[in-house]
Amino acid sequence: MCGIIGYTGKESALPLILGGLERLEYRGYDSAGVAIIEEGSLIVEKQVGKIRELVRSLWGKPFKGKTGIGHTRWATHGAPSVDNAHPHTDSRGEFAVVHNGIIENYLDLKRELESEGFKMRSETDSEVIAHLISKNYEGDLLTAVLKTCEKIRGAFAFAVISSREPFRVVGVKQGSPLVVGIGEGENFLASDIPAILPYTKRVITLEDGEIADITPEGVNIYDFWGNPLTKDIMIVPWDLISAEKAGFKHFMLKEIFEQPKAVGDTVRGLLSEFDSFPFSLKDFSRALIIACGTSYHAGLSAKFWIEKYAGVPTEVVYASEFRYGEHPLGDDVIVIGISQSGETIDTKFALNSAKEKGATTLAVVNVVGSSIDRESDYSLYTHAGPEIGVAATKTFTAQLAALYYLAIGESPKKEPLLRDLLKIPSIVENALESAEDVESVAEKYLKKKDFLYLGRYLSYPIALEGALKLKEISYIHAEGYPAGEMKHGPIALIDENMPVVVVAPRDRVYEKSISNIEEVRARKGIVISVGFEEDDKLKKYSEDLLKIPEVPEDLTPFLTVIPLQLLAYYIASKLGLDVDQPRNLAKTVTVE
Ligand code: M6R
Repeated sequence: MCGIIGYTGKESALPLILGGLERLEYRGYDSAGVAIIEEGSLIVEKQVGKIRELVRSLWGKPFKGKTGIGHTRWATHGAPSVDNAHPHTDSRGEFAVVHNGIIENYLDLKRELESEGFKMRSETDSEVIAHLISKNYEGDLLTAVLKTCEKIRGAFAFAVISSREPFRVVGVKQGSPLVVGIGEGENFLASDIPAILPYTKRVITLEDGEIADITPEGVNIYDFWGNPLTKDIMIVPWDLISAEKAGFKHFMLKEIFEQPKAVGDTVRGLLSEFDSFPFSLKDFSRALIIACGTSYHAGLSAKFWIEKYAGVPTEVVYASEFRYGEHPLGDDVIVIGISQSGETIDTKFALNSAKEKGATTLAVVNVVGSSIDRESDYSLYTHAGPEIGVAATKTFTAQLAALYYLAIGESPKKEPLLRDLLKIPSIVENALESAEDVESVAEKYLKKKDFLYLGRYLSYPIALEGALKLKEISYIHAEGYPAGEMKHGPIALIDENMPVVVVAPRDRVYEKSISNIEEVRARKGIVISVGFEEDDKLKKYSEDLLKIPEVPEDLTPFLTVIPLQLLAYYIASKLGLDVDQPRNLAKTVTVE
């Protein structure tokens, strides 16, 4: 987690760095800071809270320095405080470091440095990097960084500047993401591409074990032994406009409304990309899906499709739990890692370990060039564009599209199934027309303290996803459960205060879902159902019906999730909460 940025060039660094930090804020927002080389000296400004607090503290301080670094923090070691905020400096104030990730051996390094007289001012693992670079410095920043890399262990990316060499930024990647932006007479480092997109679309993606040495005139890349490397420059296809709010109140709402395009673009992309794959699912005796959060829910939906159309037994595992099991794997197993960011460390570690065991790894990712994309044997891309809201929405339906496409690949009925899939974008468009109805329902229930979300079969992952959306942005307790399991415990929770959201499209388990609704009503629970628009029976049984257009059973997850995303959004927005950057969360989770 955390976002880092570095700049050296012809412009004043401060506004560029602050703009970049705003675009990186989704990675963490507990505190923020900048370091600028101003007339030969290092100036550091840090604040607790969001970037706007940092911007406020910089009013009336028009720094003009042309080299600087910035950081937005998601706290791991040490509470959010000014001392723990980055950049961290050495004791003489000549070196400033911003860091993302974890230095695993920092306690040993801290003890060693303290015994040599270095004074630590923070509780972070990051500060040791600044002291080590200072200790190792003998006139060349790159050499000092190389020596420092010999000492530190963990998954990290950092950038350093020094008043001794005012037109240079050195960045290191080992486990956490770092890209280099190539400009004209200026160059950039950042955790993620959108941070630098307004300034350049020419990007080098660093691999683990690489160091970028940037000056206004050029960029040199080295390995950890100081050997120069030649890297390809990628031209980024995203434009900035797609990373702005375009008149919507929040990114999340904009992204919910972008789903028809995200699904359509994903399917069109797959039509050209996937057919060139040298394997089919049927080549494997087993599939294992690994993912976290919303991506895990997409995986649960995919299990039904893969087993039905490809006939391959499929297991879905939380990436964060994967490493604790034995998981016998071999070359007869395909391991599918699903990740929007392509940087989720749990998913990345799980995929790498599966690969070591001989499995074929396939990534389903949104960010091209991300670690998971690069480290997997094969990748399928969701063409959803950048997703800024911390709550995943359009990338979920895009993941569903990619996974459905993968599953039907071998079906003799592929053509008609694909035709139905291609209709989904316009059907989702129709579903979004009911947003105002969902908003009125949100108004009725926003004071409730607990929600239950129930679903069976393909609607069970959607119940989980609906509950996750509500929890993460509204801070209201919500539990997703398989409807048939209710009688084994959760039914005890139901009383006249409990809204129960039942996902019940007319599918093979519809009658059973209606029975569950009756059970809820018998205990005076408030039924909010999600179902087909012409379903009078469901309407009669529900306090509120969130309507979706009718689609074939297999495609219901694309539709049933839409009102649940909207319900969570409108509740959180009406509660005045920070929908795009909910507390305690970050968009990309690069810690275990
Ligand atoms: O980038 P990933 O898809 O690997 O991220 C996985 C989860 O961290 C993510 O889905 C998270 O649960 C979202 N906040 C859900 O809205």
